[in-house]
Amino acid sequence: MGKVIWITGAGSGIGKALALAYNENGNTIILSGRKKEQLEEVAALLSNSYVLPMDVADELAIAKAVSKVETKFDKVDILINNAGVSQRALVTETSNEVGRKLMEVNFFGSVHLTKAVLPLIQKGSTGNIVGMSSIVGKFGFPLRSYYAASKHALHGFYEALGLELKDTNINTTVVCPGRIKTDISKNALKGDGAAHAQIDPGQQNGVDVNVCARKIKRGIARNKSEIYVGGGEILFIYIKRYFPALFRFIAKRINPN
Ligand SMILES: NC(=O)c1ccc[n+]([C@@H]2O[C@H](COP(=O)([O-])OP(=O)(O)OC[C@H]3O[C@@H](n4cnc5c(N)ncnc54)[C@H](OP(=O)(O)O)[C@@H]3O)[C@@H](O)[C@H]2O)c1
Repeated sequence: MGKVIWITGAGSGIGKALALAYNENGNTIILSGRKKEQLEEVAALLSNSYVLPMDVADELAIAKAVSKVETKFDKVDILINNAGVSQRALVTETSNEVGRKLMEVNFFGSVHLTKAVLPLIQKGSTGNIVGMSSIVGKFGFPLRSYYAASKHALHGFYEALGLELKDTNINTTVVCPGRIKTDISKNALKGDGAAHAQIDPGQQNGVDVNVCARKIKRGIARNKSEIYVGGGEILFIYIKRYFPALFRFIAKRINPN
C-alpha cells in the first residue's frame, strides 16, 4: 500500500530529487514550496501527487495547507521538511531582518509544520519526520552565521521530539548534506536580503542531487537519527567532534564559497 509523503521545497534541488526517488509503489507525494509552477512541473513527472503551494514561514498558510491535507488523505506517513534558504554574508553585513528570515524559514518553518502535521502522522502505525539540516548544523562556518544557527537549532528540536516519541513507531531524522549540486548558493541571501545569485564552486563540484536523494531515502527507511551525505567535506563533522582545535585550524584556511 502506497505511503503519503509530504515534501517541502519540492520544486527544485534536493526536494525535487526526493519526490522522484519516492515515486514508486503507489506512493502519493504532496509537493510544497512557494512557486506553484515549479511544483506543477515536478508533479507532471510523478504518478500520484498533490500540489500544495505554501510559504513555510507563514503560520496561517501552514494551518490552511494541513487542513486541506486532512480532508484529502487519512494520514501522512513521511514528512520531509526540506525547504530552506542559505546565507552568503558576514555577521556585520547581515541585517537583523535577514537573520530573522533565515530562522523563520529554516527553523520555525520546519518546526511549525512538524507540530501541525504530527496528529496526521500519529494516525498511521508508523511514521517518519525529517528535518533538513546541513554540515553547518554541526559546526559554524564563515558567511553562514544565521544559516548555521538555524540548522544547529533543528538538531536540538528533532532530538527532543524523537525522545518524546520513544514509545511510538514515529522516528525523527535530521539530514546533514555537505555540498550538493543544486541552486542553494544562487538562492542564498546576502546581508541586505538580495539573492547571492551565483553558483559557488562548492555547489558546482558537489554531489549529484539524485545520488543524495537516494541516500536520504535509504537512511529514512532505516530510521536513522542522522544522515550525512556529501563528499570529503563530511569528514569535517568528525574532525570538529574529535579534534575541535584542528577543525578551527583548517576552517580558518578554507575558501568559504
Ligand atoms: N545543496 C546543498 O549543498 C545543501 C547543503 C546543506 C543543506 N542543504 C539544505 O537542503 C535543503 C534543500 O536545498 P537545495 O540544495 O535543494 O536548494 P534549493 O534548490 O534552493 O531548494 C530550496 C527549496 O526551498 C524552498 N523554499 C525556500 N523558502 C521557502 C519558504 N519560505 N517556504 C516554502 N518553501 C521554501 C524553495 O522553493 P520556493 O522558492 O518555490 O519556495 C526551494 O524549492 C535546504 O534546507 C538546504 O538548506 C543543501
